[in-house]
Amino acid sequence: MEALMTRIGVRYPIFQGGMAWVADGQLAAAVSEAGGLGIIGSGHAPASYVAEQIAIAKQHTDRPFGVNVMLLSPHVEAVIAVVAQAKVAVVTTGAGDPGRYLEPLQAAGSVVLPVVPSVALAKRMARQGVDGVIAEGMESGGHIGAMTTMALVPQVVDALAIPVIAAGGIADGRGVAAALALGACGVQMGTRFLAAAETQIHPQYQAAVLKAKDVDTLVTGQYLGHAARVLKNPMSRQYLKLEKQLALTGGDMTAVEQLGNGSLRIAVQEGDPQRGSFMAGQAAGMVRHVDPAAAILRSVVSQTLAIVGDGPLKQKVV
Ligand SMILES: Cc1cc2nc3c(=O)[nH]c(=O)nc-3n(C[C@H](O)[C@H](O)[C@H](O)COP(=O)(O)O)c2cc1C
Repeated sequence: MEALMTRIGVRYPIFQGGMAWVADGQLAAAVSEAGGLGIIGSGHAPASYVAEQIAIAKQHTDRPFGVNVMLLSPHVEAVIAVVAQAKVAVVTTGAGDPGRYLEPLQAAGSVVLPVVPSVALAKRMARQGVDGVIAEGMESGGHIGAMTTMALVPQVVDALAIPVIAAGGIADGRGVAAALALGACGVQMGTRFLAAAETQIHPQYQAAVLKAKDVDTLVTGQYLGHAARVLKNPMSRQYLKLEKQLALTGGDMTAVEQLGNGSLRIAVQEGDPQRGSFMAGQAAGMVRHVDPAAAILRSVVSQTLAIVGDGPLKQKVV
């Protein structure tokens, strides 16, 4: 089996996670140009937005990049058509089962990598013929499962015969070296790239990430079945309080759902901590400054190489 990173054509086994509203064509191109894999986040955006971002990425880099498709998006069919037509190198999928889209995507030459939170889901995806999986631990920013990266990754590696990429809580070379030691062939980082110079998020959102300490995130949506890790702020505290109250009293959860609607967009575009969900992972405490994507990759790779030395993991890094 040809090594996954060679097949994709990336120099370093480092993906920038596709983040809804955050990861646009410009950021993805900057990461890919620097030797990693940039991934455009499509979230619930219409197919025309995704086509536009793909065109922007193609203008800025000749290197491979990816698109993250949210399978719960009302525009999913049209987004898949755009992505297949553009012959995007990698398609990562969130929130569900990409099974029925595998054939058109793989026929277009895309490597398909679903994000999985458990061994059971990883095995189901592998049976369907995906090219690998991204095992994402609950340290991550955004929507999460219940397992930690440290416990999840080796169990997924043991259960599957296809490549595994680790995500969640990785923000520097120590995390990459650890993930490779757990058996992953690469990593995906989201939170670290919230502080990339190319990331177009509201300055108040970015400042909150830089200021965050280890314990400054909380998990909302657990009672609704869609847990998400966000920074503590007035919005997330209010959301959690209301959610717990309604869960305890058996109340109607519609009010909480409404509070969450559009809250990531508000965070990204308006930076309002009263109404915005500042999604970020526990690794935010390690993110201290804004750097160009290329500098982030350089420092992560050199730290990883310093740790793995000339040992057997070195060939996984470069
Ligand atoms: C602001 C934000 C938005 C995200 N949006 C998505 C998304 O739309 N689809 C997806 O599959 N993952 C999404 N993620 C998860 C990332 O792609 C990545 O897997 C995760 O951030 C890795 O963990 P880390 O934050 O600890 O680096 C998001 C993460 C963040 C921080």
